[in-house]
Amino acid sequence: MITPNTIEQIKNRLDIIDVVGDFVKLKKRGSNYLGNCPFHNEKTPSFTVSPAKELYKCFGCGKSGNTITFVMEHEKLSYVDALRWLAARYNIEIEETEVSDKQKQQMQVADSLYVINKFAGTFFDDQLFNTEDGRAIALSYLKERGFREEIIKKFQIGYNPQQRDTLAKALLANQFNRELLPRTGLVTVRNETELVDNYRGRIIFPIHNNSGKIIGFGARVIGKADKAPKYINTPENELYVKSKLLYGSYFARMAIDKLDECLLVEGYTDVVSLHQAGVENVVASGGTSLTVDQLRLVKKYTNNLTIIYDGDSAGVKAALRGLDMALEEGLNVKLVLIPDNEDPDSYVNKVGTEAFQQFIKENKKDFIIFQLEVMLKDVGNDLNQKNILVNQIAETISRINKAEDFTKQQAYIKQCAALLKIDEGGLITLVNKIKRDKVAKEEKKQAPNDAIDQLNAEQFQTIETDNVGNITSNEEKHERNVLRILLEFGLKEYLETKTTIADYIFEELQGFPFENPELEKLLGLYKKLYEEGKEPDTKTFLYYEDNSIRELAISITLFPYELSANWDSLYEGKTITNADNSNQDATMSINYYKLKKLKKMFEENQSEMEKAPLEEQLQLIRIHKDLKDIEREITKRLGTVILK
Ligand code: GTP
Ligand code: MN
Repeated sequence: MITPNTIEQIKNRLDIIDVVGDFVKLKKRGSNYLGNCPFHNEKTPSFTVSPAKELYKCFGCGKSGNTITFVMEHEKLSYVDALRWLAARYNIEIEETEVSDKQKQQMQVADSLYVINKFAGTFFDDQLFNTEDGRAIALSYLKERGFREEIIKKFQIGYNPQQRDTLAKALLANQFNRELLPRTGLVTVRNETELVDNYRGRIIFPIHNNSGKIIGFGARVIGKADKAPKYINTPENELYVKSKLLYGSYFARMAIDKLDECLLVEGYTDVVSLHQAGVENVVASGGTSLTVDQLRLVKKYTNNLTIIYDGDSAGVKAALRGLDMALEEGLNVKLVLIPDNEDPDSYVNKVGTEAFQQFIKENKKDFIIFQLEVMLKDVGNDLNQKNILVNQIAETISRINKAEDFTKQQAYIKQCAALLKIDEGGLITLVNKIKRDKVAKEEKKQAPNDAIDQLNAEQFQTIETDNVGNITSNEEKHERNVLRILLEFGLKEYLETKTTIADYIFEELQGFPFENPELEKLLGLYKKLYEEGKEPDTKTFLYYEDNSIRELAISITLFPYELSANWDSLYEGKTITNADNSNQDATMSINYYKLKKLKKMFEENQSEMEKAPLEEQLQLIRIHKDLKDIEREITKRLGTVILK
């Protein structure tokens, strides 16, 4: 693990303009810089970099972050690898710390598994090409199916001999840890002590991670699979996590990037055959329905996913199950069905590369439209069924939620309304209703409708969502805003109390705790660092190693851009206490936050009053009056009369 010291060094050296400027042509615009967004196609620049805040945000696609997240996104690196990348760029030597025993053990296991897999991969290769059985049984089968030697070598396809323990013996002879070997799935323990091969007489497809290391294997029977399963796969272990991998991703990366499209097929042989035919932007899911992790893997490289499955219903149904998630991930999903009981492998072999590509191009169907057509067939003339279908489609369309996908959503509504033969306006209303219901559900605890809330509504009208488009609850907004003040101005002086703004806020927060656990966590973290004299500020958290804290800090820092204008109009220049408005912002934020909490307390008190027996009423009324007093004081402090 990289030491905090090294991270600190890297952070101190970071220059966001310098790093982003390597990839984006930036022009100065006021205190910010502007360029064409590297994360989406645009002609007029909307990618803004703020050197002061060390943040970037694209007002076109909504992507935002700091120098490190920029490197992560742009170079497709993990957090740690991004740090390494930056360290290399600035010639900073990396110090590594000891890791915990458990981590060390896991890493050691993973390392050993890599080594064993690598050995086995080479062994299988050797068996395929350099043994009599290998050539006669396995290689001839592969060639019969049309695989040429160069593609077999590229994908490191191999052969595990028929005999009981050829591989097991080779592994033991090479001193591999006997205890660990079964974890790879290559061998199993028989009669308590004996190790035997698991993939006897099978063709072996190694599965590589994105850096080309073998993390597991798929082992296929040769010829027809009558008695045994057609494929056996590596069991889940420290390296092989099925839900997070796509077969062929290592070989497809560049082509996907270049063509801005990822083809998804079902099987290993489909990937290999398509590569052989020159179609290289292709990965396989292994026939199961897609997981969110797999979709995210795709999304790292492209937004365009084309699923190519055989026309048989099982595969298609499995694929359809991934649809909603794909929409939420913002992917454009197209579907192509291969006709006549062929799969991509057999089809490309049958018709050749050109015809195959032509076929894909001409038969790409939009996923939503495809789904609708399939379901329409089932519905027939049944009005009731049709009603259900309309609602289903509206629900699907409502999941297209990102701001940049608005036009896409409109286009779907138009097409689907036409296919369903219903009124377009009606469908729009329905989609909007579903969206509203979802929002209402998220905010179900907040009942609107009184003076304070009305004011809040006006106050926060422009910030219904956070910077990444998530809907935030009303109460959460106030908590976020208090945090924002703390991060940005916490160390400044609060003139009225002659303390820091942080001290003022902590004082005021007593009796008014945060409710959102994430925000609470960040608040606690700030407080701890502050009390230790570490002088935390925005940057401390923007580069924090914990992913969720980092993201929260980014979203909080970006969140209020629209807000200041509102404060101003509300204040009408009344009490400008200091040049940078930090005091005013702090006062406003904390007091609105407290008003919001008070309102909730009122409500709780109210509902208790309704239930409570007479003798307790007096006490509750007293609480009510106390709350009113506090409220009055706060509103007085805000200089705004908001109570009738
Ligand atoms: P070929 O029949 O050799 O062309 O292989 P294929 O890849 O086309 O196989 P198929 O279309 O039957 O299955 C697609 C994918 O599902 C395979 O590549 C495997 O990943 C997976 N799969 C198929 N059969 C099995 C099985 O019996 N067990 C397991 N674990 N996976 C299987
Ligand atoms: Mn096949």
